[in-house]
Amino acid sequence: MNSSRISGFYKKSLAERAALVAEWANLTPDEQAVLEGRAGLSAAQADHMIENVVGTFSLPLSIATNFQINGRDYLIPMVIEEPSVLAAVSNAARLFRAGGGFTTSSDDPIMIGQIQVLDVADLEAATSAILNDKMRLLKIADEVGGSIVRHGGGASDIEVRLFPDTPAGPMLVVHLLIDCRDAMGANAINTAAEHLAPHIEALTGGRVNLRILSNLTDRRKARAEGIIPASELATDTLSGKAVVRAIFEAGVFAEVDPYRAATHNKGIMNGIDPVVIATGNDWRAIEAGAHAYAARNGTYTSLTHWTQDADGNLRGSIELPLSVGIVGGATRVHPTAQVALKILGIESAQQLAEIIAAVGLAQNLAAMRALATEGIQRGHMSLHAKQLAVAAGAEGDLIPRIVQTMIEEGNIRLERAKELASELKDKSG
Ligand code: MEV
Repeated sequence: MNSSRISGFYKKSLAERAALVAEWANLTPDEQAVLEGRAGLSAAQADHMIENVVGTFSLPLSIATNFQINGRDYLIPMVIEEPSVLAAVSNAARLFRAGGGFTTSSDDPIMIGQIQVLDVADLEAATSAILNDKMRLLKIADEVGGSIVRHGGGASDIEVRLFPDTPAGPMLVVHLLIDCRDAMGANAINTAAEHLAPHIEALTGGRVNLRILSNLTDRRKARAEGIIPASELATDTLSGKAVVRAIFEAGVFAEVDPYRAATHNKGIMNGIDPVVIATGNDWRAIEAGAHAYAARNGTYTSLTHWTQDADGNLRGSIELPLSVGIVGGATRVHPTAQVALKILGIESAQQLAEIIAAVGLAQNLAAMRALATEGIQRGHMSLHAKQLAVAAGAEGDLIPRIVQTMIEEGNIRLERAKELASELKDKSG
């Protein structure tokens, strides 16, 4: 079996990296062309996806290395514009790997459709009427279930939530739960909620207003956890134990303070969104679900939890709603999403959700480790310096030399990069 522990992946040329991934995933020449950006989503295809299309928009597609999840190695495709995310997450995956890799789990892919009912004279009687007729209602919902029902999913339960005193009057909300199997399921849920609505009106004597899925998909959560041996975290100036403690303190900061939790969770989404995007999934849905879940107890808090275990090692875990699909929607239409799924070797939507949870946890560790040790700017500065060196026209081994000089001088500016580029070119010429 292939190992995703590839040292020096970042040092290889773009062509070498693409070739390595193509071999890893057994990509066809056409898929390779898509991966490398020589083919991919055409404007004509885009024109069928949304309205008013005038072109397409590209972003970098990168690969995170070192991931081991439930004993299996993965290369993770990530689409993102922000530098330092890929280096950081690959490095964090290496640290988790030293502790045995990630262990993940997930709920069945159950989505929630909401039906808002107003003008109900007796909320309790309406609730009983719905719940007593549950089996019939589930069958009705499945009438429009299509391929989801054929693939073993479908309506699984009905719940009623009451809001007796709202500015719009008493409100009854029906939750229709549907197992969406490998689909994200937005269309299926909305279709079923609309189909069921007249039957809910008949049973309750009320008036239905909205019929729409909830993005707080808290029945469809994924979890990941892992251990990082303290010895792996030691730096030149700090013991591994001290770093474990500092990361634990950083984690607690995010648990108790919403101002920190927002930034902490943003860092987690730095890992999650790029995989969601690479696989053609709806990242706004994932963002909405993540942040709503982080505020589920009334106070916005961290999506991860960090502790120091009895052996002094660092333990991290994450849990969040992850409604991603591997069939339908952009996942099916977008050629690069198809290649991304092939690189991941995905067999089910649950598997994808679990991988995404692990990437979020790794990204969080990377950020906290940097923040709790040398600070975030040092790494960012060297990437910034690299971008300036490239912008100054440097190529090949001139780039790291310019970067190193600018960092040593503490003078990271385009002007200086240009000066160094011409000085060093002259010397080597
Ligand atoms: C930057 O994109 C993300 C961080 O701010 C996350 C964090 O603070 O944990 C570094």
